[in-house]
Amino acid sequence: DKGNHRHFMQKEIYEQPVVVAQTLSSYLRPVEEQVALPDLGFDLSRIGRVAIVACGTASYVGAIGKYWIEQLARVPVEVDVASEFRYREPVLGPDMLGLVISQSGETADTLAALRHMKAEGVTVAGIINVPTSSMAREVDLLLPTHAGPEIGVASTKAFTCQLAVMAALAVNLARARGRLNPAEEAEIVRQLAEVPAAMNAALAHDAEIEAMAPTIAGARDVLYLGRGPDYPLALEGALKLKEISYIHAEGYAAGEMKHGPIALIDDQVPVVVIAPSGPLFDKTVSNMQEVRARGGKVVLISDADGLAQAGDGLLASIEMPRVHPLIAPLVYAVPVQLLAYHVAVAKGTDVDQPRNLAKSVTVE
Ligand code: M6R
Repeated sequence: DKGNHRHFMQKEIYEQPVVVAQTLSSYLRPVEEQVALPDLGFDLSRIGRVAIVACGTASYVGAIGKYWIEQLARVPVEVDVASEFRYREPVLGPDMLGLVISQSGETADTLAALRHMKAEGVTVAGIINVPTSSMAREVDLLLPTHAGPEIGVASTKAFTCQLAVMAALAVNLARARGRLNPAEEAEIVRQLAEVPAAMNAALAHDAEIEAMAPTIAGARDVLYLGRGPDYPLALEGALKLKEISYIHAEGYAAGEMKHGPIALIDDQVPVVVIAPSGPLFDKTVSNMQEVRARGGKVVLISDADGLAQAGDGLLASIEMPRVHPLIAPLVYAVPVQLLAYHVAVAKGTDVDQPRNLAKSVTVE
């Protein structure tokens, strides 16, 4: 049932404050200001490295998780798309924690990677949405998301719920390895607890995003730029736009523009820049200015400080609430999803059932 919404995707975007809060509630102890994973029966302090394997949108959660886990816990992380993982003959070992991420829990490549890791003696955790799925049954350690059924082919609420669990896992690993003192952990828990409210503030920009969608709907190509954990979010933005609007889109690390893709820029190419204010902001903005100098039409997603610093000359800006850079991908996901949604609606595509795609990809 779509309720008051025109599409399941729209409904699922709007459910995020509630389902992310639900998911966080099983991983946060707000009174103690601590993160608590379900009892894993497993000593996280003995982990020497983490191998994350997933497909599509879930793989971008893995890529964001790499930034978080390495920064907070100082454990090396490798991230693979599942279709490549087994065939590159990865070096596995008992010091490794495997981590699969999947909404459906049935994606064939991810399931095969999970089985491969287990057969090689690796302990495998899974961030999974469907509790009765094959992956949920086969992982050693289940870290459930509580997104509820996701019907739209484009993954939205599963993505942000997966990020919420990933953040909790990163904090837990950091604590287990003695990398986080109680005050630092309390601060991150407070930041995470604010995510649902910040998502509501982001949703309040829906009408503005809808109004700019027809301009983007006419484009042939769209680029998305970000740095740090917002780089995988740029990849996610591009995937979302491609899959439901059929517009060619690419995500790039903002600093990579001048190594090739800037050649694409002219006044026909919208460039979505994801840049919360924080330590990486100035560098991203200077990459944005390079795009503007070549006539590129910039849509900047930032907070009030960032937008003030960036100046004018933008095609559009979308103001996010001010959030800690660590949790920004959870909140900035909302305008990225809404933009893809409204562009697809403006183009008149089948938003919930895009051509050539299945919700669950059960062949390799
Ligand atoms: O069910 P899964 O999370 O394993 O699915 C993985 C991908 O097929 C999925 O995220 C796909 O990329 C989405 N359609 C993206 O919106």
